[in-house]
Amino acid sequence: MMNIISIINNKGGVGKTTITQNLGVCMAKNGYKTAVIDFDAQANLSYSIKHTLNKDLGSLLLKKAPITIEDFSITEYKNLYILPNDKDINGALFGRMNPADQLFALKNILKDLNTFDFIFIDTAPNLDTPTFNALIASNHVVIPVEYDIFSAIGIAVLYDNINSAKQVNADLNVLGVITTKVHKGRKINNEMQAPLIKHFKEVVFNTSIRTNEKFKQAQAEQTDIFTFESSFSEKRGSEDMESFSKEVIERLKKSN
Ligand SMILES: Nc1ncnc2c1ncn2[C@@H]1O[C@H](COP(=O)(O)OP(=O)(O)O)[C@@H](O)[C@H]1O
Ligand SMILES: [Mg+2]
Repeated sequence: MMNIISIINNKGGVGKTTITQNLGVCMAKNGYKTAVIDFDAQANLSYSIKHTLNKDLGSLLLKKAPITIEDFSITEYKNLYILPNDKDINGALFGRMNPADQLFALKNILKDLNTFDFIFIDTAPNLDTPTFNALIASNHVVIPVEYDIFSAIGIAVLYDNINSAKQVNADLNVLGVITTKVHKGRKINNEMQAPLIKHFKEVVFNTSIRTNEKFKQAQAEQTDIFTFESSFSEKRGSEDMESFSKEVIERLKKSN
């Protein structure tokens, strides 16, 4: 079965795009045939992964025909493909569709696709129509959170929305919560860890993505953390992403 995994949090800046990018690259590096879909109109993911533009997501959604691997854009990585966001994926685009199709646009174009081991979908920092499209087209959700009280509160709202998506997509599973931008040893993190673990105990991944400016620097150079850190002796970002990807694979094995 193809694993379609949405990276969701209506809060911005929590690391959705960074995780989609580097998890996608990590899976591809490990030999899995992987695709990433940029469902955020800000198109940060499309910037971060160098590719040769083929067809953009918006025009494929409007065309409505089921897509194949030929519709994806080729990236600079072997095994990694992208549906880039070239034109705005926003309310106006969905407004041009039949209302009955609006929430199912992504699911409908992905339905004949069987080529990939993983598809990771990056989403916008809101719970609008594009994000619901991602939730309806996915079988798993990964939720990045920063250790702060607002994230802990926001996650409850997010769960409500995931539950409403489940009404039309009963298969949707929360694969896990990944904590990001974690300063190991900082008091605030220890304080926040308790409520987060209490509410989402079984779903919090053991891995944390530590605070690491190299994620930012890599993206500024339109590259991934593995490539960027390859010239440094310390490779914290690469280690965190590799460890996270292993946990993702383990959990998928258990849930599929
Ligand atoms: N672990 C991290 N440590 C430091 N900076 C990070 C980390 N993860 C992401 N960032 C940076 O934080 C900013 C927001 O991350 P991003 O992935 O774009 O979040 P989102 O997609 O949720 O809005 C980006 O500049 C990114 O490079
Ligand atoms: Mg983003």
